[in-house]
Amino acid sequence: MTYSPTDADLKSPYGPLAFFLDLHPDLGDFRTDVIEGLSLPQKGLSPKYFYDEPGSKLFNRITGLEEYYPTRTERALFLEHADAITAAIGEGAAVFEYGSGSSEKIEWLVRGLKDPVAYVAMDISKDHLIESASALAERLDLPVAAICADFHAPVPPPAPHLPDARRWLGFFPGSTIGNMAPTAAARFLDNAADTLGASAKLLIGVDLEKDKAVLEAAYDDAEGVTAAFNLNLLRRMRRELDAELALEDFEHLAFYNEAEARIEMHLRARRDTAIVLGERRFNFAAGETLHTENSHKYTLERFNALIAPTPWRVEAAWTDARGWYAACLLSNS
Ligand code: AVJ
Repeated sequence: MTYSPTDADLKSPYGPLAFFLDLHPDLGDFRTDVIEGLSLPQKGLSPKYFYDEPGSKLFNRITGLEEYYPTRTERALFLEHADAITAAIGEGAAVFEYGSGSSEKIEWLVRGLKDPVAYVAMDISKDHLIESASALAERLDLPVAAICADFHAPVPPPAPHLPDARRWLGFFPGSTIGNMAPTAAARFLDNAADTLGASAKLLIGVDLEKDKAVLEAAYDDAEGVTAAFNLNLLRRMRRELDAELALEDFEHLAFYNEAEARIEMHLRARRDTAIVLGERRFNFAAGETLHTENSHKYTLERFNALIAPTPWRVEAAWTDARGWYAACLLSNS
């Protein structure tokens, strides 16, 4: 990978941060992507568009729902096995978090590690990243840095900016890998091996396959928060693109696709209807859907098969008593 940052890239007015690196990720264009997605035979849109401000608030509410087990199961797993996990990681690691968001899931890890060298937060959302990483820097007795980048694309190794970092630990919680199709997930893992270098480890949260009723309830809660989260995409089209559409013509649909081992979320037309964007009209026949998200579920066996062609191996895996979720520690040496 050829990327040599200039001093100007690295010097930053972001006081508490050891460095801030802006790789200027391609944020995509909502209008272009909506038009492209609505033109497909199976209409579709990237789940990244869920997370505007109202969408992020709805997602936070989802993580507290009775039916939505992943967030609390992962947190309990990490806390229960913190000693074993940090011991397996070993001393002197520099931590690199993929999609750090509010950097809320990291403190138990860096506080439990023996002589950690640094924490580097990576996220696509620049302002929120700088704010969250700076706040964390004030709380931790550890160099904290930030990189604005998209983890779907290759990320250059952060090591040149932290000469003391000899061993990297990637941290990718939240089962976010489940949003990627298996081929994209394998590409992500290949890229992560390049970014993190030799003798690296990667701690990753993986949502496991389980009873279909449990899965479907997690993505179609009784209170309708997930429905609102999904339907927010249509509200966002109206807010940001002046789209003409009737909200009540669409309904939230979530189901487990057993052949693909994934939850699919769609917005389904209740009757013949259309979304109109300026001059363009996209018709929906009654029952037709806009596919908005996939959330892949793994067995440990299938997860092993996924990573087999990549440089990573499962060094250890911790699961909860019900076998609903796994914290996997991967190693590339
Ligand atoms: C944040 C992608 C892990 O797939 O479970 C929650 C997103 N979508 N409810 C998931 C989500 C609907 C979530 N991830």
